[in-house]
Amino acid sequence: MTLDRPEISDLVIAFEPATLERLPVPRDEVLATLERHGMSAAARLVARWPHPEGVLDARFVDAVLLRAHLELQRLSEEFRQGERMRSLLVPLLDTLRRERVPGPYRVVDVGCGLGYVIRWLAAHGGLGDDTRLIGCDYNAPFISFATRLAAEEGLRCEFAVANAFQLSEPATIFTSTGVIHHFRRESLDRFLGEQGASGASAFLHFDTKPTYLAPIGSWIFHRARMREPLALHDGVLSAVRAHSPDTLAAAARRTCPEFAVGVHDGARELVPVLKVMLALVGVRRELRGAYLERLGPLAGRLGELA
Ligand SMILES: C[S@@+](CC[C@H](N)C(=O)[O-])C[C@H]1O[C@@H](n2cnc3c(N)ncnc32)[C@H](O)[C@@H]1O
Repeated sequence: MTLDRPEISDLVIAFEPATLERLPVPRDEVLATLERHGMSAAARLVARWPHPEGVLDARFVDAVLLRAHLELQRLSEEFRQGERMRSLLVPLLDTLRRERVPGPYRVVDVGCGLGYVIRWLAAHGGLGDDTRLIGCDYNAPFISFATRLAAEEGLRCEFAVANAFQLSEPATIFTSTGVIHHFRRESLDRFLGEQGASGASAFLHFDTKPTYLAPIGSWIFHRARMREPLALHDGVLSAVRAHSPDTLAAAARRTCPEFAVGVHDGARELVPVLKVMLALVGVRRELRGAYLERLGPLAGRLGELA
């Protein structure tokens, strides 16, 4: 078993990097990649999908991914991903105000999917009038869905089909949930390097905490909750692929030295059942002291911010 086994969702959709135009995905290439990683069950799943002229049917792929993310959204609710983000974001915004970093503060969620966390923050976050909430994703159907749900509830947030690192108005804070394990090795370095290059003040990237119980816990949860086969497959694999706190901190310290970096809830536990997510936290070095102060007791769960 290799940690670099891809998730199906990483293979079945592709975009032209500069324009984000959707690219055709040859079905046989996906099957060959899955077989190369010994992922026969995943290959059998994708083999059943429609593929006119050998190319995966984009509308079918969109529908599968949408169903998977709707199920993921239910899990996000159960795992209280909104509250989780808010707990580290509120002290961060207070830090920016106190240190007189000019606003408005643009919180940009990278790979927002259906925008659950951004919509939760808009509805319940109480983040202040100087804060803008923006969700970005390459996937246009996700963004239309997120936009529609936000409009139905009259929420003050925006969504864009965009590379989060190439917005015309750049981010003050980058956030993400369940995204960073999709980036491996050099692509993780590039992803983290973008934070510094973009001029952001801070980042908060939440992902599954890799523990010895995470794969089995994830399997139980996904078995109980997911009905879409891709969601079940990728959800379980994502717990296996989750980066260790050391990998994340080392990559961030290497690629964005202008940030003090720590991992919230990264500490090893004897019975790791309560802390199922960790967060890679980075703040510009000059903000470090003020952020630790604002975090109060939560600072104790941050490990070293260095
Ligand atoms: C696992 S999915 C989204 C999960 C979502 N955060 C949630 O909690 O439901 C990861 C998404 O990241 C998006 N993505 C990756 N890099 C991105 C970037 N630089 N800008 C915008 N979207 C990105 C992909 O299009 C994909 O839809």
